[in-house]
Amino acid sequence: MQGTVKVPGDKSISHRALILGAIASGESTVRGISAGADVLSTASCLRALGVEIEEGNVQGHGMRGLRAAGRPLDCGNSGTTMRLLAGLLSAQDFESELIGDESLSRRPMDRVVQPLREMGARAEWPPLRVGGDKHLHGIEYAPPVPSAQVKSAVLLAGLYAEGGTAVVESVRTRDHTEVMLGAMGAHVAVDGMRVAVECTERLQPLHLHVPGDFSAAAFWMMAGGLVPRSDLRLLGVGVNPTRTAFADLLASIGVRIDRANARFEAREPVADLRIRPTSEIRRVHVEHDQAAQMIDELPVLAVAATQALGTSVISGAAELRVKESDRLYAMEEGLRAMGADITASEDGWVINGPRYLEGARVDSAGDHRVAMALAVAGMIADGTTEIEGAECVDISYPGFFDDLESLS
Ligand code: S3P
Repeated sequence: MQGTVKVPGDKSISHRALILGAIASGESTVRGISAGADVLSTASCLRALGVEIEEGNVQGHGMRGLRAAGRPLDCGNSGTTMRLLAGLLSAQDFESELIGDESLSRRPMDRVVQPLREMGARAEWPPLRVGGDKHLHGIEYAPPVPSAQVKSAVLLAGLYAEGGTAVVESVRTRDHTEVMLGAMGAHVAVDGMRVAVECTERLQPLHLHVPGDFSAAAFWMMAGGLVPRSDLRLLGVGVNPTRTAFADLLASIGVRIDRANARFEAREPVADLRIRPTSEIRRVHVEHDQAAQMIDELPVLAVAATQALGTSVISGAAELRVKESDRLYAMEEGLRAMGADITASEDGWVINGPRYLEGARVDSAGDHRVAMALAVAGMIADGTTEIEGAECVDISYPGFFDDLESLS
C-alpha cells in the first residue's frame, strides 16, 4: 500500500461543532465536517429543532433559542447524537423524544438518564424522553463506565444548571466537548480527571476546520503497519492525546509512525502521519484503562493480533458488546471465518498468532468499524474477502473503499 490519504473530518468533533454551534450567539463556520451518516443525523435533529445549517454554516440560536420539534428526533445509528442531544434537550422547557434505528434502540441510555435525573431534569427511557422543566441544578458525577458521550451529556446539561456541574472520570476519555466549550468562552475548569462547567448565558460562535478523524486514520495505520513494503501518508489527522493511545500501542509493537507538520486547529492538535510496516508484529496486551482509551480502534487491533507472534490478550472492553453491534462477537466471527485463532471473552479477545488469513465471506453486522476492520483483514488475506453489508462504512467514512482502491 502506497500513497496519501486525507481522512474524513473527525466525527466526534463534527457532532459537537453542530450542537454547540446551534446554541451559540451568531453564525458558526465549520469546515471539513464529516459527511458520515451519523453527523447528518445530528444535523437533521438540529434542523428539526429550528436551527438552520447549510454546508457547515450553523445559525446559532443562543442558549434558549431551540424550539420543540413536534415529532420524535431520529438519531439514526448514532449514539453520540442521542446521548449528547439528551443532555442538551433535558435542559429545555419543552419535551423531546429521541429515537433511532434498530441498533441504537438496543443501546443503553440509562447511563445518561440517571445523571440527568440527578440534576433535576425530566428524563425517561425507554423510549428516551427528556426536558420540559428547565430548573436543573449542578451535580458532581462519577460515571460508572468511562464514556465521553455521558460526560458530554452531563456537561451540556450543566451549561443550564444552577451551581457548578462536574464530571469526575476514572479514565480520561476524549475531551473535545470541554476543549470546544473553552474555545467558545464557557467557564470550563479541568483539574486532573475532573471537568467542571458553570451555568452559561452565552457562547461565542465557532470558526474551525475539523481535523481528520484519528479513528478513521486508524484503519490505514493498521493496514500500513501490516502490509509489507507499505508507505502511507495520512494528512491533517487530529492527534488529541485523549485519542491517540492506539498509535502509541502500534509504535510499541513495531509499526513506524512519524509525525510531521504539527499544528493546532481550534485548540485541537493536528499532524500529518507517515506509516511504515514492521516485519514482525509483537503481541498485544490491552487492559481496562487502555481499552477505554482506544475503544473505537480495538476491532482493527484484533486484526493485528492475528499476525503477532504469541498470545495476545485484549480485556477491559465489555463496552464493545453495546456498540453499534456486539463488536466482540462480530470480530470473533469474521476473523475466525478467515482462519484466525480468536476467542471472545466476556470483555475482550484472546488471539493466538501468527495465522495466515484466507479470504472469506464475512458479515459486517451492519457496523461501520467492523466492516472497515474486516476490510483491513482482507488486505492481508490470501484470496477474496466479501463483506456483507459493507455499505455501513458510510456511517463514519463514506469514501473508505475509494481510498482503499487508491492506495492499493
Ligand atoms: C464518542 C465516544 C465514544 C466512541 C464513539 C464516539 C464521542 O463512545 O466510542 O464512537 O464522540 O463522544 P462512549 O463515550 O460511549 O465510549
